[in-house]
Formats: sequence, C-alpha cells, structure tokens
Amino acid sequence: MELEMLPYKNVDLKTKKILEQLTISSRALAELKGYANTIPNMHILINAVTINEAKDSSAIENIVTTHDDIYKILTESGYKEENAKEVVDYRNAIWSGFELIKKTGYINTNTIIKIQGIIEHNNAGIRKLPGTELKNSLTGETIYTPPQSEQEIRKYLKNLEDFINNNTDNIDPLIKVCLIHYQFESIHPFYDGNGRTGRILNILYLVLNELIDSPILYLSKYINENKQEYYRLFNEVRNNNNFEDWILYILKGIEITSKETIKLIENIQNEMRSYKDEFKMKLPKIYSKELLESLFYEVYTKISYIEKACKVTRLTASSYLTQLEKIRAFRI
Ligand SMILES: Nc1ncnc2c1ncn2[C@@H]1O[C@H](COP(=O)(O)OP(=O)(O)OP(=O)(O)O)[C@@H](O)[C@H]1O
Ligand SMILES: [Mg+2]
Repeated sequence: MELEMLPYKNVDLKTKKILEQLTISSRALAELKGYANTIPNMHILINAVTINEAKDSSAIENIVTTHDDIYKILTESGYKEENAKEVVDYRNAIWSGFELIKKTGYINTNTIIKIQGIIEHNNAGIRKLPGTELKNSLTGETIYTPPQSEQEIRKYLKNLEDFINNNTDNIDPLIKVCLIHYQFESIHPFYDGNGRTGRILNILYLVLNELIDSPILYLSKYINENKQEYYRLFNEVRNNNNFEDWILYILKGIEITSKETIKLIENIQNEMRSYKDEFKMKLPKIYSKELLESLFYEVYTKISYIEKACKVTRLTASSYLTQLEKIRAFRI
C-alpha cells in the first residue's frame, strides 16, 4: 500500500489510552525541562547526554564502541578508532542541527539532508537510484518498499516539512513527534543513516516547539532496549493502521527517558557539588567556578580546556591540572 501523506486520515489520535499516556509523558518532559535549567553550564549537560545518545544510537546500527575510545577521539589528536569516530560524527550532527534550527527557526528538507550528510560524512543526499527495500534481517523477505524516485521522495519530504512547521493543526507536538518519526522512517529518503537522522529529527522537533530548551532527550537507549517492539510496531501501523500502539510506544519512551535524564542531571549535580567541596577545601588558591566546570565540560579534561575556560596560560593550566590530580584521580 502506498504511504499516506500527512496529516493521516482515519486515525484516532485521541483515544483514552493515548490521552492518558500523553498527560504522563508531557508532565515528565516538563519536569525535565525545568530541571535542566538548574545545571549551571548547559554545555556540561548537553555534552554528557549527547555522548551517550550518540553511542546508543550508533549501536542500533551496530556501531559499537567504548566510552574510553570516544573520549580518546575527542582529546587525542591522531587517535583512530572508526566506530568511535562515527559516534563523534553523530554528536556533531546533533550540535549542527541544534544550531541550525536555533538560527532558522524551522526544519526543512535541507536541514534533514545536512544532518544526514554529517552522520554519513558524504553528500550523496536523497536516494537517486531505485532499489531500496526494507527487509526482515532474518528471513531476507521484503517488509516494505519506500517511495523510489527522487521526485516522489521530495514530494513526501515537502509534505512532512509542512506538517512539522504547521502550528495550527491542533495536534499536540508530542503526538506529532510520533507521527513525524513514523513518516520520516517510512519515506526512508537516504541510502543509509535514516534511523539516526530520524532520531535526531525527533529532538530537534521538540526543541523547535520549546518542549525542551536544549537537545537532551533521546530515545535511542529506549529503542535499543525495546528494539523488537520498535520494528514490530512499524509493521503494525503499516498492516493494521495500528497507530495507537505506535504512539503509546513512543510516548512511553519519552516518559522513561525524561525520568532517566532527570536522574542523570541529579548525578552530575551531586558529583559537581562533591568536587566543589573537596576542591575548595584542598586547593582554595586555585579554585574557581570556571575551573570546576571545565572539568565537567567533557568527561575527560585537558590543558587546553582549562586554558580556555579560566583564561590562563598553558603553563598555569598545566599546573592546575597537576595539583588537581594530586587531590583526586579524575574518574567521573
Ligand atoms: N518496517 C519499517 N518501516 C519503516 N521504517 C523502518 C522499518 N523498519 C525499520 N525502519 C527504520 O529504518 C531505520 C534503519 O534505516 P537505516 O539503515 O537507513 O538507518 P541507520 O541510521 O543507518 O540505521 P539504524 O537505525 O539501525 O541505526 C530503523 O532505525 C528504523 O527507524
Ligand atoms: Mg544503516
């Protein structure tokens, strides 16, 4: 059956179950939004969250790496580990997308193409050759054939773009994100990277609609943990028009992930507080808020971060680091 354009007809978006879960998920997300603003330096939180997201999202695509390798890629020039590099590219794509929508105030086909280009580090863009089919990975049988010609794909993307930027359709943005994700994956506009691009698109949409201020809510861990269900529900929608279960699945993911992210913020804050106390007590001469924050900016720190954050010379930064190492081995 041909993919329907948005907004879908004959879909009840206001069933009792959906409305109940919508209330719960909206509340959890609103709590996260408020709580996120209590972290003194937003970059700390975004960096911590996006590195995990990049790792989890890439793992769905079987790009598996370790935190250690990721930090090495970030801090040691010349360090090579392909999977970790992919993860870092994914994180760069999140940042670029975030900056782009902050600047333009909308998401369009070009935004999506740009994000995918960074993830895949090529500029192949939208599929031009026919032949893409979604297959069952076990049996090899074709489950679904997305639109084939570039012209058709662009038509669907334009329709998606209009749906994304339409604020007067009276559909709750959280419900819209569920539909956007289904539609985007079904258009499957690229040869590869559709899953990862789609997952970034979700968060950008939430930011655009001010449901969250910065890109810190990601469903990849949840999807990874409930992957069979994720794939099964695509087919449920396609074969049985079962949007209810699909929407409930995504909304539940938003609820669970919001709560987990709140816990992560709590952990970061506790850790920062405990460092601060020890630091102030043992090294009062060099303590500063900037130095403390620079230690949390990335999970690893290095002289150049300290130089920049504290506006000191390399020599001074290096001496700070040596003194800090003496009081505590940094193992955030
Ligand atoms: N039956 C389906 N209908 C529509 N979309 C689907 C279906 N099954 C899977 N998908 C989507 O296709 C994505 C995989 O596509 P692709 O390989 O292009 O993306 P990726 O980013 O490289 O991979 P991954 O999502 O595994 O990380 C899945 O993440 C899912 O979102
Ligand atoms: Mg792929």
